[in-house]
Amino acid sequence: MIKKFIEALKGRRMSPPPWWLMRQAGRYLPEYRELRARAKGFLDFCYRPEMAVEATLQPLRRFGMDAAILFSDILVVPDALGQKLEFREGEGPVLEPLVSSRDIARLEPENLDRHLAPVYAAVRRIADELPAEVALIGFAGAPWTVAVYMVEGRGGGERTKIRDWFRARPADGETLLELLADATVAHLSRQIESGAEAVQLFDSWAGGLDDEEFRRFVIAPTKVIVAKLKAHHPGVPIIGFPREAASRYPEYARATGVDAIGLDGAVVPAWAVREIAGGCALQGNLDNRVLVAGGARLADEARRILDGFRDRPHVFNLGHGVLPETPPAHVAELAQIIRAWKD
Ligand code: CP3
Repeated sequence: MIKKFIEALKGRRMSPPPWWLMRQAGRYLPEYRELRARAKGFLDFCYRPEMAVEATLQPLRRFGMDAAILFSDILVVPDALGQKLEFREGEGPVLEPLVSSRDIARLEPENLDRHLAPVYAAVRRIADELPAEVALIGFAGAPWTVAVYMVEGRGGGERTKIRDWFRARPADGETLLELLADATVAHLSRQIESGAEAVQLFDSWAGGLDDEEFRRFVIAPTKVIVAKLKAHHPGVPIIGFPREAASRYPEYARATGVDAIGLDGAVVPAWAVREIAGGCALQGNLDNRVLVAGGARLADEARRILDGFRDRPHVFNLGHGVLPETPPAHVAELAQIIRAWKD
């Protein structure tokens, strides 16, 4: 059975292209909110295979995407390493920040496999239950983005704590990024061995770095992860998503060896098609606010993206995750627009 999504990642152009949406499971779906209300907390939800399986399958039943993404979170890795983590209602994730090399030394990579066993159990069950033409995506946060949460204690912001720390004591930065690269390889390998057919690395906080930082913190660890995964699992495509990398997408694609690159909503398709080397498939990049808006604007923007990437292997997606206020009917409209498109 041909899986359109895997074919596109391997370099085949298709009309219409395969599609899925980042954060396609989540609070915009009433059936997700109902399931979520039955869990003790968000982490409990992630570690209960029957719940993770159900949340993964919910969007597919409604919209029939070409790929499912495991329902989990990038922060299960710091949790497995023993860092204190809480998901607060309305506030998002909060971690007890790492402040010194001693905190790095206290992390417990040897616990990863045991702690994340329920995640791999969920992957196995999803792989069993998916329709034959639908591919299963595993994922992890890239080392830099996970390190941002571990050092800042939360996402976003100016990332001054981590940039100051890594500038003042670069050896600590290297140690943490190397530890996270190894943990990421282990986590993604176990997902692949459990049934994931492609993997995506989310580098959500890759923006706002200078050139040297981008090379050391984003490109270098990603390159190590890609090389190690390719050595063990050569046929499994890897998608890199360095959000807000702006003019650096071409260098990232060239230097890391990813099979495909996820483009955020700011990237102009014609520019990406021209500047990003031909061997790399392109994924993206509808603005998630346009999906909230719906209507003629959604139809126009979706077609502009479909037209813009027509000459390349393309996977239709958003430029960032589905927002909780997105009307599910707009996702159904988008599915129709994609399926009706012809180049
Ligand atoms: O459908 C899917 O895409 C699969 C599941 C998935 C989740 N998080 C579930 C989730 C994926 C792929 C992620 C990745 C993730 N998690 C990223 C990278 C992508 C991005 O958005 O930049 C990041 C940075 C995180 C960390 C994280 N997890 C944040 C910042 C938050 C709070 C913000 C929010 O949307 O609530 C979470 C919680 C989270 N992860 C939820 C879901 C469905 C909502 C939790 C809830 O239901 O209460």
